[in-house]
Amino acid sequence: MAHPTTVDPPSNSIRYIPTNEAYDRWAEVYDSDGNFLQALDDLELKTLFPRFVASIKSPKPWRIVDLGCGTGRNTALLLRVPESETIALDASKGMLEVAKTRLGGSSLTPELSGNKPILRFDVFDMLATSGPPASVAPHTVDAIISTLVAEHIPLSVFFAHVSQLLRPGGVLLLTNMHSHMGSISQAGFVDTVTGEKIRPTSYAHTVEDTILEARKCGLDVETDAEGNGIIERAVSEDMVEKLGLRSGKWVDITCWFGGIFRKADS
Ligand SMILES: C[S@@+](CC[C@H](N)C(=O)[O-])C[C@H]1O[C@@H](n2cnc3c(N)ncnc32)[C@H](O)[C@@H]1O
Repeated sequence: MAHPTTVDPPSNSIRYIPTNEAYDRWAEVYDSDGNFLQALDDLELKTLFPRFVASIKSPKPWRIVDLGCGTGRNTALLLRVPESETIALDASKGMLEVAKTRLGGSSLTPELSGNKPILRFDVFDMLATSGPPASVAPHTVDAIISTLVAEHIPLSVFFAHVSQLLRPGGVLLLTNMHSHMGSISQAGFVDTVTGEKIRPTSYAHTVEDTILEARKCGLDVETDAEGNGIIERAVSEDMVEKLGLRSGKWVDITCWFGGIFRKADS
């Protein structure tokens, strides 16, 4: 059972605010504030993302959702998948605005001109409803990516949404902050105007709980040919240069996990 993360020691300079408000404020600097977990995620996705695409078994064209797309960091990867429609969902309007500027397209308006990929954006808060987003009929999605998002959502709620969206046999690429890191830190940023650390609500989900909760919603871990299932990654000395200065204090701590889940066929 995961509990809301107890993070840094009490400090007047840390302010906890509602998650959507925190991301609305973070949006402006999210892509440039040197967050090493994003850099680690990028590194791992070099192998995990091709594995994910190869694991989609339904006939094309595919409908792929980026659940908690943020500024579109990884939505950009989906736009390179041929014969697919991408739907980018997030609860934060601020993050979605950055994604739209970065990737083009407009709210709920498919881009169908020329060979441009089809991309739609929609505001969707997993905590505000148990139903699907207005823009996506249930059980019509071939594949979902959700990177560094589950930290903010109780796992039962997260996987209920995933299961409701996916077709039978559909796949989920999930990455998240590891609970070893989550037990000492959490997502957040420094407000450049006030100097305060801003923290949204976070949970330190363990890999074990993640697998268990996924199973309750009919999703199982997909292993590759070498038997790799969920990957857990610690920061090592030799990664610090690549991941940026802020990763230095995390050497030898497991900070990230990721893997692919498949919804049962029946
Ligand atoms: C750390 S960011 C990750 C963004 C992007 N997936 C990436 O990898 O860069 C977490 C994202 O989850 C979104 N999020 C948090 N709670 C959410 C909720 N209840 N429903 C939908 N999105 C949510 C936030 O707005 C934010 O954009």
